[in-house]
Amino acid sequence: MGFSFEIIITWSFLSLEVYCINLGDKMPLKVNFSLSHKSIFFEPEKDKFSSILDLADKAGLDIRRGCRSGHCGICVVPLCSGEVEHIFGDKMINHSPSSILTCSYKPRTDITIEA
Ligand code: FES
Repeated sequence: MGFSFEIIITWSFLSLEVYCINLGDKMPLKVNFSLSHKSIFFEPEKDKFSSILDLADKAGLDIRRGCRSGHCGICVVPLCSGEVEHIFGDKMINHSPSSILTCSYKPRTDITIEA
């Protein structure tokens, strides 16, 4: 999973301070392509507007595509595990769908897709 915390402890003569920092938004998420046996990392800050299709292109995979804007449905693939969200964050999916449009969604957790 892409959630992680870092604990920072500072110690001085007068006090002990403990900080807990959420690194969840910065941890790379793993995208597994089950049919081609390839994986690539999605970096939430750097790749925030990258779709799963963009990641597949980076990995050298050839996923069918058409409009690249979520209208034609050609890029749909089964989502085996994990959670996704729309690349612009305005169409949240609060459950794990059985299939996704790779041109319009990005990972929210580690995911495996059938591609
Ligand atoms: S390429 Fe048309 S919906 Fe994804």
